[in-house]
This record gives sequence, C-alpha cells and structure tokens, in this order.
Amino acid sequence: MDEEKGILPTGEYYTPHMNRYREVYERSLREPEKFWSEQAQVLDWFRTWDRVLDDSNPPFYRWFVNGKLNVSYNCLDRHLKQHRRNKAAYIWVAENGEEKIVTYDGLYRRVNNFARALQDLGIRRGDRVVIYLPMILEAPVAMLACARIGAVFSFVFAGFGAQALADRIKDSEATMVITADGGFRNGKIVELKKTVDEALEMTSTVRTVVVVKRTGHEVNMEEGRDVWWHDVVKDGMNYVEPEWMDANDPLFILYTSGTTGKPKGALHGNGGYSVWVANTLRWAFDPQEDDRWWCAADIGWITGHSYIVFAPLILGLTSIMYEGSITYPAPDRLWEIVERYRVNILYTSPTAIRTLMRYGEKYPKMHDLSSLKTLGTVGEPINPAAWKWYYENIGGSRCPIIDTYWQTETGGFMISPQLGLGLVPLKPGSATFPMPGVDPVVVDESGRELPPEQKGYIIYRRPWPGMFLTLYRDPERFKKVYFERFPGNYFCGDYCVKDKDGYYWLLGRADEVLNVSGHRLGTIEVEDALISYKEVAEAAVFGRPDPVKGEVIVAFVVIKDEFAHDRDVVQRIRKRIREDLGPIYVPEEIHVVTKLPKTRSGKIMRRVVKAVALGQLPGDISTLEDSASVEEIKTAIEEFR
Ligand code: WTA
Repeated sequence: MDEEKGILPTGEYYTPHMNRYREVYERSLREPEKFWSEQAQVLDWFRTWDRVLDDSNPPFYRWFVNGKLNVSYNCLDRHLKQHRRNKAAYIWVAENGEEKIVTYDGLYRRVNNFARALQDLGIRRGDRVVIYLPMILEAPVAMLACARIGAVFSFVFAGFGAQALADRIKDSEATMVITADGGFRNGKIVELKKTVDEALEMTSTVRTVVVVKRTGHEVNMEEGRDVWWHDVVKDGMNYVEPEWMDANDPLFILYTSGTTGKPKGALHGNGGYSVWVANTLRWAFDPQEDDRWWCAADIGWITGHSYIVFAPLILGLTSIMYEGSITYPAPDRLWEIVERYRVNILYTSPTAIRTLMRYGEKYPKMHDLSSLKTLGTVGEPINPAAWKWYYENIGGSRCPIIDTYWQTETGGFMISPQLGLGLVPLKPGSATFPMPGVDPVVVDESGRELPPEQKGYIIYRRPWPGMFLTLYRDPERFKKVYFERFPGNYFCGDYCVKDKDGYYWLLGRADEVLNVSGHRLGTIEVEDALISYKEVAEAAVFGRPDPVKGEVIVAFVVIKDEFAHDRDVVQRIRKRIREDLGPIYVPEEIHVVTKLPKTRSGKIMRRVVKAVALGQLPGDISTLEDSASVEEIKTAIEEFR
C-alpha cells in the first residue's frame, strides 16, 4: 500500500504509518514471550510471572503464570506516588448538569473505605458480588473495592429487568447485591431497588443489599438484609491492604448473550485482562497525560468495564463519566459536554451517531468542538454515511476515527486502527488491522482460508492476553461454543471480509445473536420469555435491519385460544418483557398469528419466518409442515405496513 496516501474520504491531514504499525505487529507474533513481557510492564506486579503463556491445556490458556498483582493497586495506589494524587480520575456529569470531580487520591480513599465496608459485611476473597448501579461514581468504586479484596464482581446493566437480574444472581451465586434507590434517565427515575426486590424473590443466595441513596425517593428497605451505603461506609480513611491476586484469579464475570436462552458468564482474570485493556487503549487511541478521555458507554457493558474503569485508571488518565441519555434534555447533550469539558477523545457507538445525525448539523454547530483530537466507535459496524458525518461534523475533518472491533469475551480491542503504533490510511466502515498479538483469519464453513474479498467467518489462530478464562461454572460450554467449530481456533461468531489491501470488514453476527443499538441480545432469550407467559403458545423472534439502531426485534406469536379475544394481550406482553428482561428487549413489532411455520418434527422455522417477513425468498421449505402459515405471516406484515 502506498504510504503517501492520506485519510479517506475528505482529504489528507496526516502521514500514514503503515510500516511502523506492521513492524510492531509482526514482532508481536514473531517473539510473543518477549513482546508480552515488555507490555506487561504497564502494570506494577507484586511478583513477576514464571511463564508468559501456559498453553499446555487448550483452550484454557493461562497468561503470566504465577504473577501476582492487584488491579485496584494498579488503578490507584501507584498513581499517588507518581504525581497524580491531585489529578482528576473522573469528571462526573449528571443528566441535570450536576458535576463531581474526583481525584486519584479521592478515588483511592473511597475505594479503601468501601473495601472496608465489604469486609465488615462479611465479603471475602472469591465471593461473588452483583453490582446493579446507574452511572454514578459508586459504580467504579464498588468494582475497584471488590478487586482490592479479591471478591469477584458481576455488573448487571441497570437497564436489565428483574428476571434477567435474577438469572445472573442465581448463576453467579452472589451473596451481595450493590444497588441504588434509583437512577435518572430522560428526566425520570428508574426504579432499581424495586427491581432488585423482585429479583430476590426468585433467588436465595443474597444475604446483603447495599443501597446507594441517589434519587432520595422512598424505597422499601428490608430489615436485616438491606443497608444504606452511607451507613456502612465509615468516614475518614480506612486503609485496606490490597490482596495479592494471582494473574489468573477471576476479576469479574460479565454475562453476555449467546445462541441459547441462558446468558453466558464470561469470566475475566486479573493479569492478562489488565495488560490487554491498558495496552490496547494506548495503541488504539494514544491518550496523553493531560488528555480528557470520554468513553460514552455504560459501565454495565464490557466497553464500560474495560474503557471507563480499568484501562484509563491503569494509565492514570482523566475520564468523563456521564449519567443519562444522549438526547436529554436536548440532542446537543454530547456536544455540550465536549465543549464544557474540552474533551480530547470521544468514543461512542454508531447507533448514537446515527441517532444524533437525524437531528441534523444544527446541534453540533451550536458548540465549539475544537478540543477533539480523536474519535472512536464501538459495538457494531459503522456505515460509511455515519462515519462521514461523524468525521466532518464532529471531528471537523481533523480527527481520525478509531473503529474498534471486539467482544465481551475478548476483553479489549481486537481489530482497530492504532494511532499509538502508527495510523494506517482509514477506510470508512473497516476496523482496519489486528492489534499486536491478534492473529485472525477469514475462513469458509470447512475452515479453509478464503481469498481476499470473500465473505466468511473470522477466527483467531492463537490466544491473546485479554481472552476470557472460561464461562463461569461451564467449561464445557466454553469449549463447545468457541473452540469446537474450528478446532484449535477461537470462533467469535462474526462474518468478515478481508479486502485486497488486507483490511478487515466486520459484517455482523453469523448466529442467532442480535445487535440492537450496539447492545448484544439473544433471540432465544426473548422467545423464552414470551413462551413463559400464560397467554403465549409459540413464538419466533428475529432481527430486522434498521437504519438507526442497526437491528430491531420482531416477534411473531401464537396466542392461546382462551386469550384470542383479549384485545390488550399484546400490550401486556410488551409490559412484561420490559419488566422481566428490560426496555432494550421490547420488540419493535409483535405480530399475532394462528400458526408458525414448522418442520414435520415440530421445530419452529425461524429462518422461514424471518425471510417471509422481510420479503425475501424463504429458501428450502421442503420440510415445512403447513404452507398456510407462510401466507399468514405475509398477510400480517402487509396489514402492519
Ligand atoms: C459487534 C461489544 C463491527 C460484533 C464491545 C461482536 C462490531 C459483538 C464492532 C460483540 C465493530 C462490536 N464493528 N461489529 N467495531 N464492535 N461489534 O460482546 O458482532 O457486547 O461480535 O461487545 O458486537 O458485542 P459485545
């Protein structure tokens, strides 16, 4: 590739450094032990590892074997000695504009005090703690306090409903839940405590609920179980010695959607994960000491874990943290915050960009965005039109767009342009090239490498430090889901094309997983919820492409005879899904039909429902039991449009 060619599509402004990137990348594959030993210096270790990688028991790869460290020590204590004591760790902004700035020293004190409270409440190393909090400072404090004492936290996104929360508490056998009386979103209170109460009726392991007073409105507090955060946290400075954690001890469990109804608990460790997130952030975005970094995700997703909490704190950066919606009180919210805090790097999702793009250029034009140097995206493929809008209207045609492709399981970025290593010429819509240590290949069904420009599955031929350790309490599923289809390789479930210049283009999921507004959801989770309702006999759920959200959920349901004349049934189902799974799971369309297409053995043919509903050819329907069902779907869709 021509090194002199500049950035696309709106002209040149920098010299691409393809060769500089390549040199580092190739070295990472050529001498991995040496390379990762060097990169691991981004952390302070209590004890150095004996071996960089133990691959004797694949796919259970173990990095930095016998290395000892503490992640909260790396995020806090060491910065106090490095002239960052008075530096802002977080500039927190609420939806109503309220602001709090917490320094590294302040965060250190809060984390120690809360770690002491956890100990006082009987939480020990290895115990599981579920965190169900809005975007408030107590969220990173709780995560770091768990990390400090070696408790394994599992953060549940505050948009999840009671059933989803209960499933995660059950699977992790958590003994504590940390929540708030509520959160604020779009000017309204989200009832978090109430949802916790409902979830706890379905589970039996939780002994203590710690409640942050955020909204101040009345909530139920159960005697002997529920305690206020401000009552259990002692004032002053209560130092808690950081536990010496093994590099491969678990740090957190994060549940994510797969191809069955049961969410998968991706388990991440202390050592490899931390080395990975800190280095990938440096390589991709090249943040400088005085920069203000804003990852505008929610802490409840992996993006927030890795790039609001662990990576920026390990690197000693200043982050913006925002609680609230991007369109409240007005669609210039993000731009207003960028201007107010002179944000230098903004990292958000294509859905957010497409949503704000709809309101027009007027909103970004109201603000001075000249502090921005670099932009980033995550969560789904970015279409060239959104890329161009972001590049021109937000970045003023000055800022490279770092399109980061990765997953909950990978811990951090896998494929992304890398400003810190040498920025390659960008192509809107391509995440460009792999991070050091990442060895992808695009293959066909049988695992044969495909020539350029052909669509196939992207798989990885070797482990990388940020890779999850296993699925919590389900090593068999870990092996089966990720390593069986292409033996010896990690299969991530995405389609991909590698172009003739070697750029990777990620094309979305190759399985039953949906991507709605950058949120990863399983079709089967929604189907399972639907058929658990007494009114519903059968259900088929799939994703319909959507110009703003990427995909939206469409459901076809068969209602039981006794409810056939009940006119409110669809409304009720919507409400139940909102409460049980959460608002992001509520289908955009629910169609009632009298039968669904099935195979002769009685299996619902979701593929056929989807194709017919989207006006495509249904493919092979020779096994279809009753073709009248297909006609019914067509009619339902026609009536709807
Ligand atoms: C998709 C989110 C294209 C992909 C960090 C992946 C992307 C899934 C991109 C993981 C991107 C994420 N371009 N697709 N830049 N980023 N994806 O686990 O399908 O919530 O498998 O992690 O999102 O979603 P998850």
